[in-house]
Amino acid sequence: MASTNKPVSSETQSDPETQGRGAAPVISIERAGDHAGQVVTVRGWLYNLRESGKLLFPIFRDGTGVIQGVVSQKEHRDAFATLKGLTQESSLIVTGKIQCEPRAPGGYEVHVSEVEIIQRVPESEPYPIQLKEHGVDFLLDQRHLWMRTPRQASILRIRADAIRAARNFMDDQGYILTDAPIFTPAACEGTTTLFEVNYIDDQKAYLTQSGQLYVEATAAALGKVYTFGPTFRAEKSKTRRHLTEFWMLEPEAAYAHLDDMMALGEGLVAAIVQSVVKNRRRELETLGREVPKLEKIATPFPRITYEEAIEILQKAGSPVKWGDDFGGDEETLLSKQFEKPVMIHRYPSAMKAFYMAADPARPELALNFDMIAPESYGEIIGGGERESSYDTLIRRIHEAKLPEEAFKWYLDLRRYGSVPHAGFGLGLERTVAWICGTEHIREVIPFPRMLYRVYP
Ligand code: 4AD
Ligand code: MG
Repeated sequence: MASTNKPVSSETQSDPETQGRGAAPVISIERAGDHAGQVVTVRGWLYNLRESGKLLFPIFRDGTGVIQGVVSQKEHRDAFATLKGLTQESSLIVTGKIQCEPRAPGGYEVHVSEVEIIQRVPESEPYPIQLKEHGVDFLLDQRHLWMRTPRQASILRIRADAIRAARNFMDDQGYILTDAPIFTPAACEGTTTLFEVNYIDDQKAYLTQSGQLYVEATAAALGKVYTFGPTFRAEKSKTRRHLTEFWMLEPEAAYAHLDDMMALGEGLVAAIVQSVVKNRRRELETLGREVPKLEKIATPFPRITYEEAIEILQKAGSPVKWGDDFGGDEETLLSKQFEKPVMIHRYPSAMKAFYMAADPARPELALNFDMIAPESYGEIIGGGERESSYDTLIRRIHEAKLPEEAFKWYLDLRRYGSVPHAGFGLGLERTVAWICGTEHIREVIPFPRMLYRVYP
């Protein structure tokens, strides 16, 4: 490593909350407004630098936000000399007075009196992402750096809040977190979308498509449970809604029915959206998201049957007919009819996974539901009631040509105290993409895994 790349100070050893330069407290940029008129220290990076004669206008970022600085050569000769010509993304610690400045982004600026450079980005090898438009393939190759931009950082902060809100909601409803495994012996959602792994001693294992079968077991042990973790799909879909690795929150409850899960699903989604609106309004504004549209997302959500959905689609000019599954086009058309997410229930069983229970009133229909997000973000939840009869389930496993051996433990759940039970899976990235209003779901996960992309 070139010597210019080595940190030249270990400043951050002092107590980060209280100790800045001299008596100045270290603050986070998002809280700059609380320190108007005070001299403070900010530790971060140089996001941009504009030079104008005897004045410099740097923009600093620290991960919590950006703040504009002003440095005057006349008043602070050393700070001016240190910052002048400094390269983008060099790391530094600056001290200065926070002042209200309505024209500055965020409403405050820092009048810099002292600067310490921690690492100077060499001029010969400048930071690859400039403050101009770059192609998305280039940015995805630079994902490890791209996430430093205010827009990307805002998205990741919103994602974190959505996860926290989702967990809090589930915990408050009395659901117990029981983590499902990632290595599994068989398919849950269908054999064509499995990632095969060489397990120990030539044994084959598969990356999980869903934790559902496992939370069915933990639900029989604990009552109301959920799992929340990464899940994998090897389908060769190259759409703005598909990742090969995505996060899914999957509740499951013993003695629960379809209606209970629709109520839980709408409560969960409303809780996530309202939490982000409350805690991450600034980030939503950074993204240019229309917050009033999100403020409307309160329970109850509309519920329609599959057959009603077919009617709506046909009236809107779609060639769809009874028995067809809904693809992206149908979901988009449907979502345009509603301001809130819409829940569609009772699809024809034939197109659905082997584990779905049939509606006793109309056995050709499944007791399932999908939740479709507004604004064309597609299906964010899929779930419903599970088949609880041993005989029916084993028949469906055979019909689906699944290996019975691998499902022996799952069939035990129907042998020993089988009860009606239901659950669903919420796709985190699709939910966050809708909340953020991003074009593609690849932006809402720190390191997206997609068809043809596992780097960086
Ligand atoms: O509808 P899916 O396939 O349902 C299941 O996996 C059930 N076993 C869940 C359950 O009942 N416990 O997936 C659930 C959700 C979808 O609604 C979607 O939001 C998301 O997971 N999802 C994906 N997100 C990103 N990329 C993909 N390739 C996805 N596939 C599904
Ligand atoms: Mg689905």
